[in-house]
Amino acid sequence: MKESEIKKIFKKKIKEINKHNKFYFSESSPQISDSEYDQLKKEIISLEKKYSFLKSSLSPTHSLGYAPSKNFIKSKHRVKMLSLSNAFDIKDLENFEKKIFNYLNKKVEIEYSVEPKIDGISASLTYKNGELVKGTSRGDGTTGEVITENLKTISDIPQNINFKDFPKDIDIRGEVFITKDDFDKLKNNFANPRNAASGSLRQKNPEETKKIPLNFIAYTYGYFESDKIKKQSDFLSLLKKWGFKINQHNKVLKTIIDLENFHKKFENDRFDLEYDVDGLVYKINSLELQKRLGFTSNSPRWAIAHKFSADSAYSQIKDISIQVGRTGALTPVARIKPVNIGGVVVSNATLHNEDEIIRKDIRLGDTVKVERAGDVIPHVVLVDLEKREIKSKKFIFPNNCPSCGSETIKEFNKTTKKHDAVRRCTNEGYDCEKIAIEKIKHFISKDAMNIDGLGKKVVENFWDLNLIRFPQDIYNLDYDKISNLEGWGDLSVSNLKYSIEQSKKVSLDKFLYAIGIRHIGIENAKLLAEHVKSIKNFIIFVSKNKLNELLNIDGIGETQVNSLKKFFENKSNYKIVEKLSSLLNISDIKLNKDGKLLNNTFMFTGKLSNMSRAEAKSLIEENSGSVVSSVNKKLKYLIIGEKPTNRKVQEARELGIKILSQKEWLNLLN
Ligand code: IVH
Repeated sequence: MKESEIKKIFKKKIKEINKHNKFYFSESSPQISDSEYDQLKKEIISLEKKYSFLKSSLSPTHSLGYAPSKNFIKSKHRVKMLSLSNAFDIKDLENFEKKIFNYLNKKVEIEYSVEPKIDGISASLTYKNGELVKGTSRGDGTTGEVITENLKTISDIPQNINFKDFPKDIDIRGEVFITKDDFDKLKNNFANPRNAASGSLRQKNPEETKKIPLNFIAYTYGYFESDKIKKQSDFLSLLKKWGFKINQHNKVLKTIIDLENFHKKFENDRFDLEYDVDGLVYKINSLELQKRLGFTSNSPRWAIAHKFSADSAYSQIKDISIQVGRTGALTPVARIKPVNIGGVVVSNATLHNEDEIIRKDIRLGDTVKVERAGDVIPHVVLVDLEKREIKSKKFIFPNNCPSCGSETIKEFNKTTKKHDAVRRCTNEGYDCEKIAIEKIKHFISKDAMNIDGLGKKVVENFWDLNLIRFPQDIYNLDYDKISNLEGWGDLSVSNLKYSIEQSKKVSLDKFLYAIGIRHIGIENAKLLAEHVKSIKNFIIFVSKNKLNELLNIDGIGETQVNSLKKFFENKSNYKIVEKLSSLLNISDIKLNKDGKLLNNTFMFTGKLSNMSRAEAKSLIEENSGSVVSSVNKKLKYLIIGEKPTNRKVQEARELGIKILSQKEWLNLLN
């Protein structure tokens, strides 16, 4: 064989292994079994040994190309590792502050701890009596992988801390990252520094981790009980004293204008830093305020990430395809000539919806500017009209669903009195193939049933092989058949079986979210679950036409109730829920039964002082009480704020319900 041919084969194999590294590391959905992976690696190494002219810097022996063990021990975080919501401009920041004031029901002076957001991998370190006893990755936020030995190879991470004021039991959290210079040396193996850090950290063998110079910067705590420390910035200073590296650019600022100015400056200066930074994190500095504000399901109310503007590049639209989402939404996607944007090769960019295409007059063959920022999906920003071909024609959005052929519509929104920008397939059930596949992908996703052995690609593959048509089919898979499929070995089949088995035990709110009812996101699913308490009750609500009663739940409105009705009018949806409820072990909502307010129901009327309804509600619930939104016999206390609704007070009096002022109510708690 000629040298050039051998080189070609070698390069092809390297490309192949890099592709699988990417599936494994950045998408967490391996496409081949461990043994196939090892085989591929062996072939590369033997080619290298045989032909000395092959460039060994590409070799997986020098890189982190091993698929690490899928069997890291998992560990539940004592305090969840949440993510941050994003702000892109000053409006988003103003909104963030406004929400805080609303929640507190008061304008307060806010001090922010401002910290560069390093684009790496977060890790949590548990110290007991000054000794590093466990280190975990973020995982899905609730459960992480135990990677203690790998983390111990990082010299920035102290293994023993002898300060008297170092807490006896604490989780220290921070970012593991690789510098730009070190990344340049490894560039061939990873798409970006973040992937490199992630790959290195998740090596099965800590010796492999050691080969890549990783760094650690600490920025917060997880589990930790103290009321001595008052401010985030004080905690950062303590971290430094205890021997952790903290970011030297951390700052304390007060107003949104200060934040915006610092952001502008830092956005330009960041290129001189040794590491990649994708924004600034702003945290309310007062830890007491942080505690009051608490969390939504995904992120703290007291912090936000202010992203830097996106990287962009020009490319040409080769095709426009229409994707069908789980709620029937048709999303146009531009297939573009692959282009490198900020270190990532992009070949698809979203065009959002039909109105967006019309507004920007986007056409096939157009040269367009594509932007991407962090983990946000790349999107088309504008058309370069000078490059448009004279013959080009307007893009006609299809009137029928490209998957099932059903009619598509733009719904009329009663609140905004406008038609939606999004066009939808009218077939919202499992009869539309694309919708069905997307519904199943949603069902298995992290925040839903969390079946991590069954990735999105596997769902598509199983669909094509007719192994699944409905969510319940996941619990009746033919594993013998699967183990004979290409790419499936004993290990991967047993992993799959295990994660499906594990998923059977699920909380009611996750289940209600998983079945994928439009307008029932995680938060609403929680509200529903807290109200109906068990799956049995939920099914009774549905089958006895009692869904209107759910309007009583604070936070659930007509949009949600109508959507629930529509969902269950489709008999196959009802059957699916029934079937799943018999296959799964859906746990009832257990109330926190130790609180002072157990068995007490409350209702509010009028404006509370220094506190929003949302905060008041969570205070009651933390103390085992419950909040309702209508006066009836079951109500025990009506709490009156400023300007109460007279009718409600009257009704309460008639029913002999106790009436409390805000102060009297707070006294009940203390
Ligand atoms: S605080 C609940 N502080 O950003 C608080 N995160 O989207 C969340 N990050 O997963 C973490 N620098 O990987 C925090 N100074 C900083 C950070 C930071 C980088 C990352 C971290 C987290 C992600 C949140």
